[in-house]
Amino acid sequence: MSVGVEIRGLSKSFGALDVVRPLDLDVEPGAFVSLVGPSGCGKSTLLRMVAGLEVPSSGSVRIGGRSPAEVRAEKRLAVVPQQPGLLPWRTVAQNARLLLEVNRRRSPAHHPDPLDLLAEVGLTDFADAYPHELSGGMQQRVALVRGFALGAPLVVMDEPFAALDEITRTEMRDLLARLLEQHPATVLFVTHSIAEAAHLSDRVLVMAPRPTSVVADVAIALPRPRTTAIEDTLAFTEVCAELRRHLHGAMR
Ligand SMILES: Nc1ncnc2c1ncn2[C@@H]1O[C@H](COP(=O)(O)OP(=O)(O)O)[C@@H](O)[C@H]1O
Ligand SMILES: [Mg+2]
Repeated sequence: MSVGVEIRGLSKSFGALDVVRPLDLDVEPGAFVSLVGPSGCGKSTLLRMVAGLEVPSSGSVRIGGRSPAEVRAEKRLAVVPQQPGLLPWRTVAQNARLLLEVNRRRSPAHHPDPLDLLAEVGLTDFADAYPHELSGGMQQRVALVRGFALGAPLVVMDEPFAALDEITRTEMRDLLARLLEQHPATVLFVTHSIAEAAHLSDRVLVMAPRPTSVVADVAIALPRPRTTAIEDTLAFTEVCAELRRHLHGAMR
């Protein structure tokens, strides 16, 4: 079950620094929506407000009609950060279960088995390994599993693949798309990569420099399921060119 996100008049300033202008946004249940925009424009701040990790200066966020704090406390919202942030003294399987074990009382009644998820991302053989025995890409796969293990209807990801090399990064797109086919969720995804946004998204929001606002809301009509093969098509190249045009327009 996915949820919709309703954002009304949401803004954020840090002291005199205006970061996010009053913003209205509706994300339909089950949609994959990416935010792309110049570094420092306020993408992470916006995402953190949606996730209930940052207090807005004005406005509201509703997730399936509830506040982010409520939804997060119920573990119906998963956050996948840029750095995998695995606990070095816990095995891969133990890390995968981490969010389920924190405040067990709140653990969802129905969620995927972390071991099944590890199999889906090709890490069964590493279930008993420790994070330092894994490559960066493998660690980020564990971070994906840890997020998806909640079975949360909303997953928020802030440049989850930014630290990876280009080849690994491309593989992660396929992996994430496949995970979402098995475990549908509404996704808000921040990325610097236009190709990543085009590949994964139903909609791409192009953000202006700080103080940020949405300058373009582009529907990505490419057929699904999508694999990396789609990146070799003309339609994909055209989508990327359109996104790049909006992005360059926003920077002027
Ligand atoms: N906790 C904070 N205190 C003060 N300024 C902040 C804080 N968090 C972010 N900022 C500022 O807000 C702006 C946007 O940051 P951020 O949302 O991280 O941008 P992005 O994710 O788009 O790169 C930056 O100028 C940053 O310095
Ligand atoms: Mg950021």
